[in-house]
Amino acid sequence: MIDNRGSRRILSFSFCFIISCIVIIVIVKRSDKIDTTIYNTDSSLLSTSCKHVSIDELDRWFHSKKWNEIPKIIHQTWKNKTLRQRQARWSQTWCDQYTNWYYHLWTDDENDLFVRTKFPWFYPTYNKLSPAILRVDSVRYLYMLYYGGLYIDLDYESVRRIDALFTNKSVVLSLINYSFNSMNSVPNSWMASRPNHPLWTYILHRIILLWSRASDKERNEFWNGKAEFFTGPQSLFEGLMFYLHTIQHTDETLDQLFGNKQNQNADSILEVANITFLGPKLNNAYDWMNGIGADVCSAEKATFDEKKCQDVVKPIYAITYWSHSYGHGHENDLNYLGDEKKTR
Ligand SMILES: *[C@@H]1O[C@H](CO)[C@@H](O)[C@H](O)[C@H]1NC(C)=O
Ligand SMILES: *[C@@H]1O[C@H](CO)[C@@H](O)[C@H](O)[C@H]1NC(C)=O
Ligand SMILES: *[C@@H]1O[C@H](CO)[C@@H](O)[C@H](O)[C@H]1NC(C)=O
Ligand SMILES: *[C@@H]1O[C@H](CO)[C@@H](O)[C@H](O)[C@H]1NC(C)=O
Repeated sequence: MIDNRGSRRILSFSFCFIISCIVIIVIVKRSDKIDTTIYNTDSSLLSTSCKHVSIDELDRWFHSKKWNEIPKIIHQTWKNKTLRQRQARWSQTWCDQYTNWYYHLWTDDENDLFVRTKFPWFYPTYNKLSPAILRVDSVRYLYMLYYGGLYIDLDYESVRRIDALFTNKSVVLSLINYSFNSMNSVPNSWMASRPNHPLWTYILHRIILLWSRASDKERNEFWNGKAEFFTGPQSLFEGLMFYLHTIQHTDETLDQLFGNKQNQNADSILEVANITFLGPKLNNAYDWMNGIGADVCSAEKATFDEKKCQDVVKPIYAITYWSHSYGHGHENDLNYLGDEKKTR
């Protein structure tokens, strides 16, 4: 009897012990979760992919706080919500890795409404810009000005996350190479920013000014380099120089502002007036101007091979294959109209 009672006591004691352990484990796990939630206010718990948000959701989140950092929102844009196969695949590499970021794919219609309602001073120009590449070039500066975040062209693939570098940064740009004479060395295909940075207004005013002064012939005819000149990398470069020269009270070139040439390595991170420049190897290892790897890295070539390309140019954080899906400033370009010719 006594023995029996003893073993019962031991049994119920063990039972209580096990239950307590489970309760303690659950509490500890929960507080773990609570900790991550508080720490990662922007992320949904344990997400394995970025969170696609509507513009309403984006606005609600964006206006719910004051921004002293680069907001965790990725912007991409296309004609409509239907991406081409390889665009969807490249886009997904960002979402797969930037799991605590928001994501929005802007369509042409959404862009139009965004510019018309948020930037009435730019809309009259925006509305006349043609072909489409001039509008999608311009609207990305407006995403940066209004929301900030990270703008990425649809032909960029993420190799690994770069956003640890964004801490305390205001604007992060990504070089193709250090040759600034062509003014195409700072592409507008990948840009990160805090909201309301004045750099973007310099670029937008340059676009307004140049477009208003262009002849009808220049506005309406296709010419090679038109997109780069009006709204593309050259508008970014010139806006950047206006901005830097104004606030630095200098007329130094970007090279001089970077300091000595020894700084300019493929994987350097340079800073001028709180604008951060990532060396080419980090994000843009394939330089369409120097041609290294062009046969396998250019998405426009039949010999395009992403794997071989990465073996040749060894990108660190990201790479773009320069697919020119909007055409080279020409709306009748098959790249823009048609489906991709070939997917691997
Ligand atoms: C998007 O546009 C393409 C043509 O460029 C069309 O084939 C496709 O059906 C459109 N998708 C939607 C959802 O409208
Ligand atoms: C960011 O800035 C804060 C405040 O100035 C500073 O305490 C912190 O060390 C900086 N972090 C990095 C990674 O530079
Ligand atoms: C760069 O940022 C620091 C810290 O926010 C600020 O004190 C400094 O004035 C800024 N410099 C320029 C040129 O904007
Ligand atoms: C950078 O661009 C210039 C101008 O197109 C080109 O001559 C040069 O080879 C490119 N690459 C490097 C690494 O400078």
